[in-house]
Amino acid sequence: MPVTYLDNAATSFPKPEAVYQKLDQFARVNLANPGRTSHKMALTAEQELHQCRHLLNQMLNGEGSERIIFTMNCTDSLNIAMKGLLQAGDHVVTTNLEHNSVSRPLEAMVDAGTISLTRVNADAGGTVLPETIRVALTPKTKLVVITHASNVLGTVQPVGDIGEIVRQHGALLLIDAAQTVGVIPIDVRAMQLDLVAFPGHKALLGPTGTGALYVGLRAHLHAWREGGTGGDSMSRLQPTELPFHLEGGTPNVLGVAGLRTGIDFLNQQPVGKLWQHENDLVVRLVEYLKQRGDCTIYGHLDGSKRVGTLSFSHPAYDSPDIGAILDTSFDIAVRPGLHCSPYIHRSLGTAPKGTVRVSPGIFNTTEDIDRLTEALSQILG
Ligand SMILES: Cc1ncc(COP(=O)(O)O)c(C=O)c1O
Repeated sequence: MPVTYLDNAATSFPKPEAVYQKLDQFARVNLANPGRTSHKMALTAEQELHQCRHLLNQMLNGEGSERIIFTMNCTDSLNIAMKGLLQAGDHVVTTNLEHNSVSRPLEAMVDAGTISLTRVNADAGGTVLPETIRVALTPKTKLVVITHASNVLGTVQPVGDIGEIVRQHGALLLIDAAQTVGVIPIDVRAMQLDLVAFPGHKALLGPTGTGALYVGLRAHLHAWREGGTGGDSMSRLQPTELPFHLEGGTPNVLGVAGLRTGIDFLNQQPVGKLWQHENDLVVRLVEYLKQRGDCTIYGHLDGSKRVGTLSFSHPAYDSPDIGAILDTSFDIAVRPGLHCSPYIHRSLGTAPKGTVRVSPGIFNTTEDIDRLTEALSQILG
């Protein structure tokens, strides 16, 4: 029997059949180095990048497809944004929900004496109240960084309300959309977002090695990497025009071709279907856990304010043990532990063993959840 994969918050699996076909076909026929002033194959590869940028810009209601910067993953996007923006003396506000891809670069900049940092806490249900952000802002605050949805609790953050506060203050807002892009509508204009970091390999259904950063009109980033851009070669320095300013070197055009096909697949689904589908599967699991009565479920359960990612723990069994038994004895893939988000686990009192995280994806079914609950009944009694 194939593995029952319930770890889509880490990366989506499987990908749509069309993505596999595209990767195979593109690698065999079109895998040239994109270049604006070159041969036909190079132009075809360039076109693939261009079309994917266009789709992503449309999805975010962005202010130009050149503002979509291709990266390796969400971590890469977050690093490019934070390190490209922050300078000596800046103050940053972030939260205890953040993944280490936000926390570690910021903590390293604190240790280097570059920035000062305020980390605010989510409330007991896992939501950061906009007012909590407001009171943390100082005249030196350049940036607020917040996850759009917690990768531990699934709780969606009120980034639109936070965007209004941050904009009024004159600072910039960077959201980590690792768990929301492709699932929850993101409108950078309505939500007043300046920077949006996201992976291509989760809900957008692209291959690993893909991600992007949306750079809004108010955000001016230093190039973190300089090199060839396929054009403008006489320029002594990195071109200042986007996306080339932030994209030196050969891009992952194969990955982007797969990503574009994943987005096409997603765009063919009814709006909101993925969000509803994943939440319905989580509700089925919640009902089972509530019925058992001996597990702790983390985060509030209002389906309109959470994505389909659920964390729970059991008083008698460590989460890593539950995850290991599910894997080895039942071929069920979930994610136990700290999920690279230590601060929220500390707040929940679940560090260092963490929780069991279950994250269904677009191809999971109710049978997958039933297989999981049957296995949990055998393990936990
Ligand atoms: C909230 C959050 N931010 C950032 C990341 C890092 O994403 P990537 O693995 O694409 O670098 C993850 C990965 O799981 C995540 O859940």
